[in-house]
Amino acid sequence: MTRAQAPGKVILLGEHSVVYGRPAIAVPVTEVRATAVATDARASPGVTVRAEDIGRTIDVAAAPSDEPLSVTVRNTLAFAGVSLDEVRIDLAVRSTIPVASGLGSGAAVSTAIVRALSRHLGLFLEAASVSSLVYETEKIHHGTPSGIDNTVVAYERPVYFCGRDVEIFEVGQPIWLAIADTGVPSLTRETVADVRAAWEHDTEAYEELFDEIGGLVTESRAAISSGDTRALGSLMDRNQGLLCELDVSSPDLEALIEAAKHAGALGAKLSGGGRGGNAIAVVEPQGAERVRDALRAAGARNVIVTEVK
Ligand code: MEV
Repeated sequence: MTRAQAPGKVILLGEHSVVYGRPAIAVPVTEVRATAVATDARASPGVTVRAEDIGRTIDVAAAPSDEPLSVTVRNTLAFAGVSLDEVRIDLAVRSTIPVASGLGSGAAVSTAIVRALSRHLGLFLEAASVSSLVYETEKIHHGTPSGIDNTVVAYERPVYFCGRDVEIFEVGQPIWLAIADTGVPSLTRETVADVRAAWEHDTEAYEELFDEIGGLVTESRAAISSGDTRALGSLMDRNQGLLCELDVSSPDLEALIEAAKHAGALGAKLSGGGRGGNAIAVVEPQGAERVRDALRAAGARNVIVTEVK
């Protein structure tokens, strides 16, 4: 039996503009996880994926060519140089990461599968290889993914991501985040497609907005490295203003952002695709509980407080 896990993630700054080659920063969230367990339990050759949370069982050989869990399995087997009829594997998959919430559930499930399956076959993949295998599945989930989700989840470290350049970087001072779920599911594929349509309609204005966001991300990276959480908070606020201009915020997100700020958060914004999913707030450790309570009172379905180190 081989068990593997993968964390969730949040984007601190730079979602959407990262799809257009600007930088973004993301961090893992270890309070939520996807888990995959591989066993040699299948009676006949092949691989079965049992997605236990949603009650689905998939026979990889019979699955459509764009079924994400099967694609992940097929690509991992191909990477390992093993064919489906050489194995008899049962893969049980579970996740505590809410779907369509901006916390990287798809990338985490794929990463857990790649890790469990490759290790079960005796292959110990580096994070870069895991990330590229997961990226192939992300294309099915998202259409035109930037690659930041698979990167942060596979490396499990804070990443500064810009196109093909991935920098794993140090956090000067721990950052405390409150992550609040609106409870409104939102598909990244849809918000990314809407931003693309708007960009096609008014390319010059959107390119300017993306440049502005990119500038905030670069400044944030310096603020994070030097441990200046206050500066990070105000850069996140400015990023939120620009995300509103991209039209990916929502009244639910705004209510949580407002509540967090009112309770003393240093900055707050949506995280991920937007129009639902999660808002994040950077908080002082001693103020975290106050912000958590305010977020709950403002309607958050769930609040995770996490320390980014
Ligand atoms: C999704 O977590 C972040 C987006 O920027 C999409 C992407 O980077 O692929 C909205």
